[in-house]
Amino acid sequence: MTTPITITVTGAAGQIGYSLLFRIANGDIFGPKQPIILKMLEIPAAMGVLEGVAMELTDCAFPLLHDMVLTDDPKVAFDGANWAILVGAFPRKAGMDRSDLLGRNAPIFVEQGKAINNYAASDIRVLVVGNPVNTNALIAMSHAPDVPRERFTAMTRLDHNRAISQLARKTGANVADIYRMIIWGNHSNTMVPDISHCRIGRRKALNLVGKRWYKKEFVPTVVGRGAAVIKARGASSAASAANAAIDHVRNWALGTRKGDWVSMAVPSDGAYGAPKGVIFSFPCVCPGDGTYQIVEGLKVDPEIQAGIQATGEELLAERAVVADLLGS
Ligand code: NAD
Ligand code: LMR
Repeated sequence: MTTPITITVTGAAGQIGYSLLFRIANGDIFGPKQPIILKMLEIPAAMGVLEGVAMELTDCAFPLLHDMVLTDDPKVAFDGANWAILVGAFPRKAGMDRSDLLGRNAPIFVEQGKAINNYAASDIRVLVVGNPVNTNALIAMSHAPDVPRERFTAMTRLDHNRAISQLARKTGANVADIYRMIIWGNHSNTMVPDISHCRIGRRKALNLVGKRWYKKEFVPTVVGRGAAVIKARGASSAASAANAAIDHVRNWALGTRKGDWVSMAVPSDGAYGAPKGVIFSFPCVCPGDGTYQIVEGLKVDPEIQAGIQATGEELLAERAVVADLLGS
C-alpha cells in the first residue's frame, strides 16, 4: 500500500475545519490513491466538539482516511507531519481589520513554529490560514530555524480565487479559461489584485473590462470580500477558505497548470521591490515536486508598483508590532 501522508490541521473543531477535514479525507488534495493520516489540534475547551467532528469523519467511511489523531498537545499534533495547515486562530468580527487579531493570535504561532521545528517530518510544508496570515507565518517560520524558510507559506489563494470569479462574471468567461491572475502582498486591505497579465483564452483581460471597471469595481470587491462575507453571514468565510487551502496545497504538492501561475504568500527575496524579511504574496509556479518559484521578469505597471510598496510597508509595520515574538 502507498505510505500515508500525515497532515496536521490546527483549529480542527472550527468553521473552516468542518469543511477542510472532509475534503482532505476525501482525497481532494492528493488524489484518490493517496492514504491520509489526519492529526487534528485543538484547545482543551474544544476537544469535545472535535470528538464529534471525528465521529462524523468516521461515519463518512472515507477509504483514504487511514488514521486520525485528536489532541490538544502541539507536540503530538505535529509529530511526523508532512504537511501542516495552520487554521487555529481567532477570526475577526465586523468592523475589525485582520491585523487587529495580531495580539490575540500571534502567540499561537510561536508555540506551533517551535513544535513544527522539533517534531515534524523533515519534508514538512506549512500553510498558514489563521489571520493575519502573512505575519503569523513569519512568526512560525522564525521559531523553526531547522526547517527551510521556503517551507512556510501563507494563504492568499482565496483572494486569487475571488478575483478570478469576479473577472469571469464580468466577462462571461469560464473560470477555467482565466490565466495569470495575481494578488500581491498582504492578505489585508492593502493587497494588490492585478489583472494586467491576465489572459482569457488569447485575449488580454484588461482590454475586455477596461481600467475603470478594474479600479472602481473589481479591486474594491476583491479587497472587501472577506468583510462582505462577514457582514452577510455573521461569520467569516469558511467553505471558500477551506477550498482555497485545498487549492494552495494541491498546487504546491502536485503542480500548477501549464502556462498559469497561482498567488502564494512566501518568504520575500526582495523580488519586484517587495521588502525582504516578510511573507509576501507573489505569482508562483509550482513544478509538482513540492517546490515553487516566484515568476520572474514581469513588467509591472507603475500604479501596481506603488501598491506593492504600500502593502510591503504595511507588512514591515506588522513585523515591527510583533518584533518581541520573533525568533531567529
Ligand atoms: P473558528 O473560530 O470557527 O475556528 C478556529 C478554531 O481554532 C477554534 O475551534 C479554536 O478553538 C481553535 N484554536 C484557537 N487557538 C488554537 C490553538 N492555539 N491551537 C489549536 N486550535 C486553536 O474560526 P475559523 O472561521 O475556522 O477561522 C480560523 C482562522 O482563519 C481565523 O483567524 C480567520 O480569520 C482565518 N481565515 C483566513 C482566511 C484566509 O483567506 N487566509 C479565510 C478565512 C478565515
Ligand atoms: C477572508 O478573507 O475571508 C478571511 O481573511 C476572513 C476575514 O476576516 O476576512
